[in-house]
Amino acid sequence: MMSPLSLLERRFRVLGRHSPLFYERPLHLVRGEGVWLFDADGKRYLDAYNNVPHVGHCHPHVVEALSRQAATLNTHTRYLDETIIAYAERLLATFDPSLANILFVCTGSEANELAIRIARECTGHMGIISTAFAYHGNTAAVYEISTLFNPPEKRGPNVQPIPVFDPYRDRNGRTDEQLSDAYAADVRKAIDAFEARGVKLAGLLLCTAFSSEGLPTVPKGYLGKAVKIVHDAGGLLIADEVQGGFGRFGSHMWGHAALGAIPDIVTMGKPMGNGHPLAGVVARADLVEKFTSQTMYFNTFGGNPVSAAVGMAVLEVLEREQLLANATTVGAYVIERLKALQQKHNIIGDVRGQGMFFAAEMVTDRKSKAPASAETKRIINAMRERGVLISRIGIHDNILKIRPPMPFSKEHADLLVSTLDDVLARL
Ligand SMILES: Cc1ncc(COP(=O)(O)O)c(C=O)c1O
Repeated sequence: MMSPLSLLERRFRVLGRHSPLFYERPLHLVRGEGVWLFDADGKRYLDAYNNVPHVGHCHPHVVEALSRQAATLNTHTRYLDETIIAYAERLLATFDPSLANILFVCTGSEANELAIRIARECTGHMGIISTAFAYHGNTAAVYEISTLFNPPEKRGPNVQPIPVFDPYRDRNGRTDEQLSDAYAADVRKAIDAFEARGVKLAGLLLCTAFSSEGLPTVPKGYLGKAVKIVHDAGGLLIADEVQGGFGRFGSHMWGHAALGAIPDIVTMGKPMGNGHPLAGVVARADLVEKFTSQTMYFNTFGGNPVSAAVGMAVLEVLEREQLLANATTVGAYVIERLKALQQKHNIIGDVRGQGMFFAAEMVTDRKSKAPASAETKRIINAMRERGVLISRIGIHDNILKIRPPMPFSKEHADLLVSTLDDVLARL
């Protein structure tokens, strides 16, 4: 008798062999609750990786809002609808007053695609500066600027990447002011490079967490001079809040506010619907006015009444459960505990992060800072075997990426750190 195909084999048959799958031994998850995930054998995992279930997996308030609205009405944004407008009003109130309009979409990629279209349409220019080693999504225009996966020869003339400061490797005795000057000089060089090939600047697009780049802690005021140069060249600042938004940094609702910048356009996604496909573009009203008067933009699913009810429920939970304050206090505790672990294990070269987003950089030698890429892979897999889920980022794939749902507590942090301690001791 033929043995039945495993779920993995069935997956290969229908999704192909290259659809990304986490861990050497893939996880078959069947249920989630708060910061916990459960596999098909009933084993429990601490989720210290996923930012989409922002207020916790299957949060009852979000599930209830979704179910109630799904049972009442689900249309789209081309009818008058109280739920959609009330949500837009509440969300926009969290921004600088200059950012007064929102366009709803379904994914972060779509949000960045639309932001690029708005920037290009409103400036009349094509050039986009993005960060080296950035990820912004999977549509054709966004993939072009996503320097993480798109090699230089495929980027085309309208993309110019610039490096972001790496606090662990690149300070070289420079002051914060000198680093901001260096960043501004790189922006200037990118604009010059565009001009040399007849391209004018439409905008500077950056992830406010610089997440794929390795979560560098950039100095205060880092963006100030660069943004002025962008504006003087006729371009716009586009802040991608897909990872840094919705209070991830604890101190502020938005990563750009934590960086001390007011963008012209903001994109958001992942945590916005706590797993429901909801994303958006918030922009200056004059930009939205110009763009929408010149192009007929509408989105069938983006911001429909069910999505709006879910989005509202996420904002309500963030406020009721004081999750930004939790990110600040628990976040500081996680950093403190990871720094203590760094004293014990030489492989941890650097620990950094803000709010509920942490990076621990693994090196084979603290002096040369040689990346411990192979070891980092082993650590991630060993953590998974011990029931704690994290991932890795950075140019050398040697940085532990720890970004749990926002209700992560000190007890969860203790489990995360003691498991990591155990894994590092047996490496
Ligand atoms: C910073 C950033 N922007 C945009 C995206 C794309 O979002 P989505 O996968 O929802 O299209 C991602 C996804 O990982 C991201 O991390």
